[in-house]
Amino acid sequence: MNLKDLYIDFFVSKGHKQIPSAPVVPENDPSVLFNTAGMQPLVPYLMGQKHPYGTRLCDYQKCIRTNDLESVGDTTHHTFFEMLGNWSLGDYFKEESIEWSFEFLTKILNIPINRLGVTVFAGNDLIPFDEVSYNKWLSLGIPASRIAKTVDDNFWIAGDVGPCGSDTEIFYFRSDEELPEIFDVQDERFVEIWNNVFMEYYKDEKGNITELPKKNVDTGMGVERTTAILEGVNDNYLSSIWQDVIHLIEEISGVSYKGHEKSMRVIADHMRTAVFIAADPSGIKPSNTDQGYILRRLIRRAIRHAKQLNIDINSDWDQRIAKIILKKYQSYYAELKENAQVVLNVLAEEKQKFNRTLEKGLREFDKIIKNHNDIDATHAFHLYDTYGFPIELTKELASEKGLQVDEQGFKEKFRAHQELSRTASQGKFKGGLAGNGEVETKYHTATHLLNAALKVVVDKNVHQKGSNITSERMRFDFSCDHKLTEEEKQKVEELVNKWIQEGLEVTVEEMPKDRAIASGAECMFIEKYPDIVTVYSIGDVSHELCGGPHVKNTRELGTFKIKKEEASSAGVRRIKAVLIEK
Ligand code: ALA
Repeated sequence: MNLKDLYIDFFVSKGHKQIPSAPVVPENDPSVLFNTAGMQPLVPYLMGQKHPYGTRLCDYQKCIRTNDLESVGDTTHHTFFEMLGNWSLGDYFKEESIEWSFEFLTKILNIPINRLGVTVFAGNDLIPFDEVSYNKWLSLGIPASRIAKTVDDNFWIAGDVGPCGSDTEIFYFRSDEELPEIFDVQDERFVEIWNNVFMEYYKDEKGNITELPKKNVDTGMGVERTTAILEGVNDNYLSSIWQDVIHLIEEISGVSYKGHEKSMRVIADHMRTAVFIAADPSGIKPSNTDQGYILRRLIRRAIRHAKQLNIDINSDWDQRIAKIILKKYQSYYAELKENAQVVLNVLAEEKQKFNRTLEKGLREFDKIIKNHNDIDATHAFHLYDTYGFPIELTKELASEKGLQVDEQGFKEKFRAHQELSRTASQGKFKGGLAGNGEVETKYHTATHLLNAALKVVVDKNVHQKGSNITSERMRFDFSCDHKLTEEEKQKVEELVNKWIQEGLEVTVEEMPKDRAIASGAECMFIEKYPDIVTVYSIGDVSHELCGGPHVKNTRELGTFKIKKEEASSAGVRRIKAVLIEK
């Protein structure tokens, strides 16, 4: 059995419910491009909202971190990784969490105790020393010399604002050298494999720390790293997770991994991440902004490294690699099966686009460096704008020749260029859709009514998971464990139409966030809102934190009609509905 299955089985045996991995592109959180940790999709529940699956959860979550995209090529960096997590939402706390981590590592994975070292929170002005964790580790047989106390490394938060708390981290001695008696956190032979965060606080924008309604546990263990450790390899790409892909790249290129490690690692890593982004239900396509630009950069960098290995980049090399990745992961992630063809098309199209300019761009690059020493912003931007070279590609080419690139200057030009295209497209948007903003406003109000009606008809614990509005229709995703029955759909439709006919006033009020929450206003990501929030109320039937805009009176909406109700992802249903003018 592989690590993921062992982990889930173990935590299910401890009363946890397995929850599905959320999409890589967060559905309701515009503050990040991708989910970077298992806890991210769970923020509302860590903040106190009731989770439909209960108080003990576990999963494997797809995560993407692209801040050090350029480091990919060494033995440990990946842009995509899977994080194993188990959570207590106000259920068990430090002792059980530590006990189960210890049991899993030493009894299920059979890791010898003497290879482990742990850290615990040392204590500061705000939060005391974590004596409970310290004593628990001692009682389990970890000697005091292997328990390090730190402050900075033992407090965890995703970004700057949100649920947070002290943590205890578990390290593994990954070396053939003699085991040291003392665990020193600076000793790089010890690698972190698991982080157990005791989330009992909330940090706001001003840095104030307050207590959360409940004491939670959030843990994270990296699948790639732990697998490499268990298999005793010092290069993640030599573990069983990557061997099939690396062998295929060897076969396609006709050269061996040894001596071509960097290019093969980049191709393997970037292709896997590209597959997962392209397969995501959000429908991301390569572009020059946001997630689309990450996807484009990953594919283009992979193509360039394929060229480095003398692979015929116009052949089907990318399709072959994508296919084994799709096959390998599809029993865990259904979207890889459902969207396999989409993925293959995205790769083929992007390859076709880039291959047209890559050769010419490389010649242009050679010309530039013949006449200049380093690459200035104008040339870097020219390579981007005319030949589609993402900046890290230019940097990589330059560093191979021992040259520098004016990245800062490039970024300024890039931003100015994006600003221009944005303004242009907004202008077009306004002109082309003049008058339609009103229709979208109506749909927006209708989503609040639908949200409220689902709570009345289906279950009061139904929560919005996302929405998307065009001038033609609305789409509304919500947590729900079953397909709505015909009767439920009809009742929801009738209730929304009843409220529309009642001509309910839509009012807006500003209030402190805490009061809004205390009054029971509906919201999706409370920690993302400022301290003073706007709450839109529709008569007495709905109160939601929301930025608007909304209609003044529900009578303006016309007739509400559900067109479709379907699964969106596990535990999430999707309704498509329209408003018909009277
Ligand atoms: N959320 C914690 C982490 O990502 C577990 O390390």
